[in-house]
Amino acid sequence: MAAKETEGPLAGRTVIVTGGATGIGAAIVTAVADAGAAVVIDYVGSSTAADAAVATLTAAGRRALAVQADVSRPDDLTRLVAAAVAEFGRLDVMVNNAGIETRHTLLETTEKDYDAVLGVNLKGAFFGMQAAARQFVAQGGGGVVVNISSVHEDWPMPGNTAYCVSKGGMRMLTRTAGVELGAHGIRVVGVAPGAVDTPINASTEADPAKMRALDAAIPLGHVAEPGEIGAVVAFLASDAARYVTATTVVVDGGLMQSSLGL
Ligand SMILES: NC(=O)c1ccc[n+]([C@@H]2O[C@H](COP(=O)([O-])OP(=O)(O)OC[C@H]3O[C@@H](n4cnc5c(N)ncnc54)[C@H](O)[C@@H]3O)[C@@H](O)[C@H]2O)c1
Repeated sequence: MAAKETEGPLAGRTVIVTGGATGIGAAIVTAVADAGAAVVIDYVGSSTAADAAVATLTAAGRRALAVQADVSRPDDLTRLVAAAVAEFGRLDVMVNNAGIETRHTLLETTEKDYDAVLGVNLKGAFFGMQAAARQFVAQGGGGVVVNISSVHEDWPMPGNTAYCVSKGGMRMLTRTAGVELGAHGIRVVGVAPGAVDTPINASTEADPAKMRALDAAIPLGHVAEPGEIGAVVAFLASDAARYVTATTVVVDGGLMQSSLGL
């Protein structure tokens, strides 16, 4: 079947999505591919889900590639960007989506927990952005970085301290890099989901009382489907969002503003 990436707002663009085989990342992959982009799906560990996504997209006439790269390793990120360029000729959008959490309080957090969470969520985004931006500059400028943050870039979550620190750092990374890179025509945008139905929330979703409290605290009345985040990322990656940079778009169903709290 002929490739369809010549149609849509991201036609002719190449997008990398880190942690793109599951959850929000997988929904972003679908949304940007539907918008016409060629997609590079980064994963760690088993390739099964990433390979299945590539097979599905390819069967639908899209262009897609799966690459194993650990985002906490800058050399892996450099290799990831090089693989995207080798396959599709250029890079246009980097989505730093990979993330982990350990759900420990400050008193419980070990150095290993801290290094793991900050290594993936903040160091991964920092060097992912750097590798992408170096490629953008080498291509002559332009390009978009989308950092998948969280409402917890602003909103404390007791019992998940290192995660909140990582997303708070990502908030400032988005702002500072957005200002620095504006001169190259590069946009940097954060997306802060509230609660989304993905594997990262398995412990909350296993507790019906917690889930009822969560749904009740969300003005729009439900935890987000991953596609509700993916659609916003595809928009922000497109030229329709060409004046948006150095800021975070909150996509939380009103959760942060809710007086109901949690
Ligand atoms: N689900 C939510 O409620 C929610 C809310 C706000 C923000 N987020 C953020 O959304 C992003 C995606 O999370 P999700 O909810 O889809 O959960 P998820 O667990 O499905 O996705 C995380 C992905 O990151 C990958 N990953 C982990 N370590 C990696 C590494 N070292 N290198 C490369 N990939 C790695 C995982 O394999 C997985 O595919 C995360 O940054 C998370 O913090 C999620």
